[in-house]
Amino acid sequence: MALAAEISKNLKSLIQEFEKALDQASSLQEAEEARVDFLGRKGRLAVIMSQLPLLSPEDKPLIGRLANEVKDSLNQILNDKIRNIQHKAQEERLAVFDPSMPGRTPDTGTVHPVTRVINDICAIFVRLGFDIVTGPEVETDFYNFEALNLPPGHPARDMQDTLYISESIVLRTHTSPLQVRTMLKRQPPVAAIAPGKVYRRDSDLTHTPMFHQIEGFLVDTQVSMADLRGTLTAFAHEIFDPGVKVRFRPSFFPFTEPSAEVDISCVMCKGGGVSSDGGPCRVCKETGWVEILGCGMIDPAVFQKVGYDPEKYTGFAFGLGVERVSMLKYGIGDLRMFFENDLRFLSQFV
Ligand code: PHE
Repeated sequence: MALAAEISKNLKSLIQEFEKALDQASSLQEAEEARVDFLGRKGRLAVIMSQLPLLSPEDKPLIGRLANEVKDSLNQILNDKIRNIQHKAQEERLAVFDPSMPGRTPDTGTVHPVTRVINDICAIFVRLGFDIVTGPEVETDFYNFEALNLPPGHPARDMQDTLYISESIVLRTHTSPLQVRTMLKRQPPVAAIAPGKVYRRDSDLTHTPMFHQIEGFLVDTQVSMADLRGTLTAFAHEIFDPGVKVRFRPSFFPFTEPSAEVDISCVMCKGGGVSSDGGPCRVCKETGWVEILGCGMIDPAVFQKVGYDPEKYTGFAFGLGVERVSMLKYGIGDLRMFFENDLRFLSQFV
């Protein structure tokens, strides 16, 4: 037989043989083996095509075109087969898929009880007309102490176990620097609250080196202690319970005069000092009261530092412990729970 006729016959029969080989294949792996066998670099098509150079110049283009057509057909057949195998595998998966099965519920986070209380408290004061302000946690001595009437060497600096970065830079020990920062930027009337982290060298059952405070302050003409008292009482009723009692105890802070600490009637024992199991209430240590914040009328010395006229303006300020409020609000007995990030604890605050 002439070479051209033989090659052409071999090429045509390749198609059927490839179909037969693929019929046997039931996996992608087996289909791949058949592809290598027929279409691979040393496969059967390649072997036949290696004879093309031997053809006469008239036969070469004809047989060459045929070879390309056969190659296209083989590829087409292979692709059909692969699609077929994939389709079957999909059908098999669907056959065991039960659409009535309950879905998997994705884990969703919850708002941390500290964040929650910050949000609640901010919402209350925003409704009362306060703005929210924030500032740096790494603070200069000037904002943290000096401008708050705590000059270097002042004994009241010992009240706060300061973490120093350098001689004049500290981790802020309270949110009160935000009073100074805000007053330097704005003119009265000013009403703002400043939530944030504060740091103290202190760590035991009831203290952590980092905790949260919310500072609040209001400056205008004719602001009085009665405004402070009314504002904080309204706040306590809103965040805890309208039945909660509020008392102001005289205290001392260098940046307020007069100063007070505010207690609320113990939310655990309702002020009776006796816990639900009949024993002494551990939350208020049987006193019936728990402290939630420090406050007072802003000292004229602070106004002088920020350039407010102390003859014209008065104002109140308070600083509140967020973890403390959260413990009382949710009946959490151990401060450390806030920082352990135990999901069994955190997921209760949905
Ligand atoms: N900064 C004080 C503290 O951390 C609290 C406070 C704030 C007191 C504002 C009075 C006025 O203890």
